[in-house]
Amino acid sequence: MAESEVLFTITKDQLETGLRGVPVGYCPTSSVDPQLGLFYGGYPVEKLAYNEPEEVIYLLFNRELPNAEQLAEFKKVLVAHSKLNPEIINHLKALPKEGHPMKWFMHGLNLMGMYSGTGDYKKDAMNVVAQLPELVAAIYRIRSGWGETIESKPELGYIENFVHMLNPPNTNDHLLELMKVFNVLHFDHGGGNLSTFVGKAIASGQEDMYGSLMGAMSALAGPLHGMANQECLRFLKTALENVSDPTDENAVNDYINKLFAEGKKLYGFGHAVLRVEDPRATVQYALGEKICPDNKIFRMAVSMRKLGTEFLKKQEKVSNPYPNVDAVSGSLLTSVGLTDENYYTVLFGMSRCVGIAAQIIYERLEARGGKGTPIIRPKYVYSGPKR
Ligand code: MLT
Repeated sequence: MAESEVLFTITKDQLETGLRGVPVGYCPTSSVDPQLGLFYGGYPVEKLAYNEPEEVIYLLFNRELPNAEQLAEFKKVLVAHSKLNPEIINHLKALPKEGHPMKWFMHGLNLMGMYSGTGDYKKDAMNVVAQLPELVAAIYRIRSGWGETIESKPELGYIENFVHMLNPPNTNDHLLELMKVFNVLHFDHGGGNLSTFVGKAIASGQEDMYGSLMGAMSALAGPLHGMANQECLRFLKTALENVSDPTDENAVNDYINKLFAEGKKLYGFGHAVLRVEDPRATVQYALGEKICPDNKIFRMAVSMRKLGTEFLKKQEKVSNPYPNVDAVSGSLLTSVGLTDENYYTVLFGMSRCVGIAAQIIYERLEARGGKGTPIIRPKYVYSGPKR
């Protein structure tokens, strides 16, 4: 038998380093290159940022962008599957408002599975993706006390309908554009980001789509992963309490130096894989200059982009001094009236469920000539007492 190509050798030093760089499988939906950034189906994400979300969802599930006919057909399928079971709204109304919105979101996914799960990964993926806008809009409205949920009009379009059902009290005309771009940018990020890996690991035991996504969202909820967007907005707000003019570079620099002297960190910088500015951040900085150039939080994010990067470049141990996706997203969300950062990870999750579902379908139904990948079972080296 011909020897298989060696992709990676592992040494003891690499144990307990978060599997960093260890190849474990194939990912046909997206890839992350340290220098070139993020690609969906081979297209740079920055080129897709303003495509219709439905087109990009189609791309992730089918590996090709749809033609006009395929897109129209796909939109019809999404519309047909879009109705959330109304009982789920009643359950949400009974949840404790103290619970973090991510806990509500996980609960919602679990309920969706209990009411509508079929056990068929493809069918369940289509249902869950089609119904996410209604679930997330309901979580927002009920938990924030914005009033009754608003009836779904799926024929408006996937994110158009989400914005219609969300209807935040103090928003502006940029909400729809931002929600579309935010959604597309967060759909997928290669095979090895924590939530995607966890979702696929759960599905490898043949748990269904809903349970796998619920577990994936639990992984996303950590502050080192998806909840970083919430923490980044808090960081920018605190910076503004200390530096009243975010365009005053001397004052921002002094603040950065003070933080470091106190052993604190700059939020929104660095990435496990990327060694350049996250292209999803680059797209959002440009969008911010268009939709909220005078927003003070956004201006602070822009100053941090320049001065934080300059500062981190001078630090010896920093391998990536550049902003990541979370550095700026919160400032844009605030500018359209989504001011409560506790919900930001739910918006991330609503989008990321698409990529995770597409990857689960690959691993369960297509990998290894259709056999699917086996149950995940890595080896740990025993380090307890020897007898
Ligand atoms: C993501 O989008 O999942 C984050 O950038 C984290 C990652 O890729 O590991």
